[in-house]
Amino acid sequence: MPLTSISQLEPAPRLIRACFGETLDRPPVWLMRQAGRYLPEYQAIRQQVDFLTLCKTPDLAVEVSLQPYRIFGMDGVILFSDILVPAEAMGMRLEFTDKGPCFPEPLRSKAMIDKLCIPDPEEKTGFVMDIVRRLRQALRSNSEAALIGFAGAPWTLASYMIEGGVSRNFTGLKAWMYNDPETLHTLLHKLAETVILYLNAQIAAGVQVVQLFDTWAGILAESEYRTFILPYQQQVIQGISRRNVPVILYVNGSAHLLEAMAETGPDVISVDALTPLDVARQRVSEINPNIVLQGNLDPNILFARTEIVRQKVTDMLSLGGNQGYICNLGHGVLPETPRESVTCMIETVKNHICKPALSGCISG
Ligand code: CP3
Repeated sequence: MPLTSISQLEPAPRLIRACFGETLDRPPVWLMRQAGRYLPEYQAIRQQVDFLTLCKTPDLAVEVSLQPYRIFGMDGVILFSDILVPAEAMGMRLEFTDKGPCFPEPLRSKAMIDKLCIPDPEEKTGFVMDIVRRLRQALRSNSEAALIGFAGAPWTLASYMIEGGVSRNFTGLKAWMYNDPETLHTLLHKLAETVILYLNAQIAAGVQVVQLFDTWAGILAESEYRTFILPYQQQVIQGISRRNVPVILYVNGSAHLLEAMAETGPDVISVDALTPLDVARQRVSEINPNIVLQGNLDPNILFARTEIVRQKVTDMLSLGGNQGYICNLGHGVLPETPRESVTCMIETVKNHICKPALSGCISG
């Protein structure tokens, strides 16, 4: 369903207005993985509970979601959870170790795929919807911050469910793709159905924009992307009941895929750090001139000196402009990131003034 214009009566948050292509005095800013280990406030809570328990305890998850917003004042609050939560609800055993997520019984056969269910999101992941409802309530007094929901896209979810965890070469996944594409399609279809229900439940519970993380879509060539990834991203985007709820699509390592991603039909494309925003803008607008861009500071820049952070953010802002742009990183915040750099990034964006009469922006 195409987006309809936002009601004039309800002032939409800056982030949502940017998703609709409005011209703004400055772009909105939030950071992928803005909640997490770089914050001592997060570590303090994590010392009391393991990661999955944190995801399943709404009081704590709400607190952790709001921490970065309270500390830095981003324009968006992202629900605290993980992309793999729905995979557990489908029937996979899921653990989180020091090395990241782990499925001790990864998918090995068609029989295992057939056993997976398409979970009812309220019944099996009601804690996520509780977190969303509570965040919505907490943000009601401040309409300037948008509530962001998210899900992993089918391909990226399949990669973890087949590889059993974080992978370097994705050998198991790719071997499956070449040996038995039909069965892989069955899994991807089931995952798409799951993700659609899951995101629609988040929308019903109150998220105002959703981000679809297809982190590992960049490991395929464009022709393979068109076969194994694009149709499922498209299925999800079309399946979302999104009157006024824009969809952001993120792929890491997407330089060879930007046009195909634009064809998938998202409202916003989140660009990684390797493609300059002006180049991405030109390529994507040839497919659809209305697509908004998000990104794309290299998360490693936050480890540089403050004046360098400020300069790089300012450079990025002048490429992004004040229309059709959301300021963010090119990938998630890294665990050891100095918080002064995050403060500097957010402050630089907030002090940046875009003059609508001019084509570019200036630092104010
Ligand atoms: O602040 C936020 O962005 C919200 C929460 C969020 C988490 N994971 C919390 C988390 C979000 C949006 C995610 C998405 C996610 N999870 C992705 C897609 C985005 C990306 O970074 O590419 C992926 C691939 C995962 C899977 C995952 N979860 C991995 C690979 C890891 C371990 C490595 C890492 O980056 O931390 C996790 C664990 C995880 N997810 C943590 C957090 C805060 C760290 C857990 C801890 O406290 O030990």
